[in-house]
Amino acid sequence: QTIDLDIEEIEKGGFDHFMLKEIFEQPRSIKDTFRGRLSADLNDIHLGGLYSVLPRLVEAKRIILIGCGTSWHAALLGEYLIEELARIPVEVEYASEFRYRNPVIYPDDVVIAISQSGETADTLAAIKLAKSRGAMVLGICNVVGSSIPRETHAGVYTHAGPEIGVASTKAFTAQVTVLTMIAILLGKHRKTVTNELATTLINELGSIPAKIERILESNSKIEAIARLFKDSTNFLYLGRGYFFPVALEGALKLKEISYIHAEGYPAAEMKHGPIALIDDKMPVVVIAAKDSSYDKVVSNIQEVKARKGIVIAIVSEGDTTIKGMADYTIEIPEVHETMEGLLAVVPLQLLSYHIALMRGCNVDQPRNLAKSVTVE
Ligand code: G6P
Repeated sequence: QTIDLDIEEIEKGGFDHFMLKEIFEQPRSIKDTFRGRLSADLNDIHLGGLYSVLPRLVEAKRIILIGCGTSWHAALLGEYLIEELARIPVEVEYASEFRYRNPVIYPDDVVIAISQSGETADTLAAIKLAKSRGAMVLGICNVVGSSIPRETHAGVYTHAGPEIGVASTKAFTAQVTVLTMIAILLGKHRKTVTNELATTLINELGSIPAKIERILESNSKIEAIARLFKDSTNFLYLGRGYFFPVALEGALKLKEISYIHAEGYPAAEMKHGPIALIDDKMPVVVIAAKDSSYDKVVSNIQEVKARKGIVIAIVSEGDTTIKGMADYTIEIPEVHETMEGLLAVVPLQLLSYHIALMRGCNVDQPRNLAKSVTVE
């Protein structure tokens, strides 16, 4: 007797698509990323792959983060994290621009390449260029043994597990988790993060998986919101601080899989252009959870509402101010400001998933896109 089992169906683990499975896997994949690396008791972060290069990394005059696509968005969050916690100047570059524009690279620069696949051609070429100019080059990659980890001096694997959906989800949150750990580690060594703050941050990072579980419980609410906007032709995503890279990533997710035009913008820049687009048909996703720029973002929401835009706001649990102003709200739990991006991106992943599905798009394999871009 034989049982007819479809391997792909088994791999999807009961989910309709790999993307949905991978979104729902994030509590576990993030745990896998920090397993054995976080120690709240010892108030320490262990990143074995960086051990041999730590002195040079701690003394770096500048860190240059490079990547493409979603990995570039993780790099932007990395800039905010490392500058805030470790006080080392950081630059973020698209690997494709960096490699072709004859950049200034000093031997005491550290270049960190971020890549899920470890095979992106432009990122690999940028690494070779940085190495040829004497910089130390590190990698943050998901695929073990891929080309980028072999080409870099040292690095950290994200351990998110295989990501099949072309639109990156769990690899992104794993990359940001690694960057958060690097920022705390550097901050501790450079004494820009006190022991007390390090303990808080390590505990907060440890709380992320359970908080993502709570966000995933809003899946059907997010699906209902998606139904209202599945026929929109444009979306604007706004955020400040740590939520700006999240706005970019939210817009990219929507573009990639639903083919709806979407733009991410720093909320304050709206008045320098995108505000002209706002009318009663324009959904504006505002990431407005409680952080140090909360009041400013509240004013941005008022500006959108004054022009009859439709506001879908990501807010902190229990927020009442924005609930009274926005058309739709999705709550996320509170966490230390430096880690809010890890939470805020999850409802945006779900929103694009549902919209794409309702439009009949191939969610796991969007047209014209490849999981790994090995051509220049
Ligand atoms: C492709 C994928 C994106 C990914 C980008 C960078 O465009 O479709 O999802 O973010 O490549 O890939 P990497 O493997 O270097 O992170």
